[in-house]
Amino acid sequence: MRLHVVDHPLVAHKLTTLRNRETDSPTFRRLADELVTLLAYEATRGVRVEEHEIHTPVAVATGIKLTQPKPLVVPILRAGLGMLEGMTRMVPTAEVGFLGMIRNEETLEASTYANRLPDDLTGRQVYVLDPMLATGGTLAVAIQYLMERGADDVTAICLLGAPEGVEHVRQAVGEDAPVQIVLAGMDPGLNENGYIVPGLGDAGDRLYG
Ligand code: PRP
Repeated sequence: MRLHVVDHPLVAHKLTTLRNRETDSPTFRRLADELVTLLAYEATRGVRVEEHEIHTPVAVATGIKLTQPKPLVVPILRAGLGMLEGMTRMVPTAEVGFLGMIRNEETLEASTYANRLPDDLTGRQVYVLDPMLATGGTLAVAIQYLMERGADDVTAICLLGAPEGVEHVRQAVGEDAPVQIVLAGMDPGLNENGYIVPGLGDAGDRLYG
């Protein structure tokens, strides 16, 4: 499993505004969207491509195109929905599936309440979207679920993570798993309620009220 915390001043600047409790929902949604676009640029470095010949007005040229089957983008409902448009703007031909997951606020355990995914993900490259990687329970269950269905390359794009969550996912999927986590920022840890500190609060509430 690989971890990539994006180190870029524009990402850090947008994340700072996102964290600010004075930032209202419309601004929060716009910034989350912009951040995903920047993260998607980093997260898709390994997107599968193949050679593709085209004719320019002058000559024949060899370029690349995305390999079939197309990548699958999976926002984790609800907060991951706020990241979908930014991602599909960068990869417009991607297929989109949905996974509804909720974290029990007392036990912090994650469970699935909705699933709209292709049954067979054999050989598929999947991009999971979820703003927060806190205890890692949600992401671990989501990635295992996708890999059980055959996905052989999973990248999770999150806005903020905590070291405990990253380690939980690493333990759950295994060190050698074809899994990548891309974060805009990594915070020091979690509080007793399982919230990332200093974090940005509850991303779902800040996006959708
Ligand atoms: C939040 C967040 C992640 C999860 C992270 O979702 O969007 O899905 O918690 O926590 P974890 O790493 O400890 O599992 P939440 O359960 O609040 O649902 P929501 O998106 O519907 O607000």
